Amino acid sequence: AKISFHHGDGSTDVLEVEPGTSVMRAAVTNGVSGIVGECGGQAMCATCHVYVRQEYLDALPPVGDDEDEMLDCTVDERTDRSRLGCQVKVGDGLEAIEVDVPESQV
Ligand code: FES
Repeated sequence: AKISFHHGDGSTDVLEVEPGTSVMRAAVTNGVSGIVGECGGQAMCATCHVYVRQEYLDALPPVGDDEDEMLDCTVDERTDRSRLGCQVKVGDGLEAIEVDVPESQV
């Protein structure tokens, strides 16, 4: 499956990952800047905040309760495209996803 990370400077990281990989894990493993994943994927830090591009939003499972709470603690403003990267996995009907990385997240 393919994950594309779009950065504020116009650059894009495109990763090919195993199905079942989360957006956060893929980013951290491959050194994509702007995604930290401090809590290791427990939906408890919000440093994996991403903006999912509109065309992929409907394919995702709904925002979970823990995720919803953490999304209120993101550094960059929460929008209706906001998700926690650790809660979004590719594979299983979602062969590709594109996200925008929040600019001030380090
Ligand atoms: Fe901590 Fe996603 S890695 S909330």
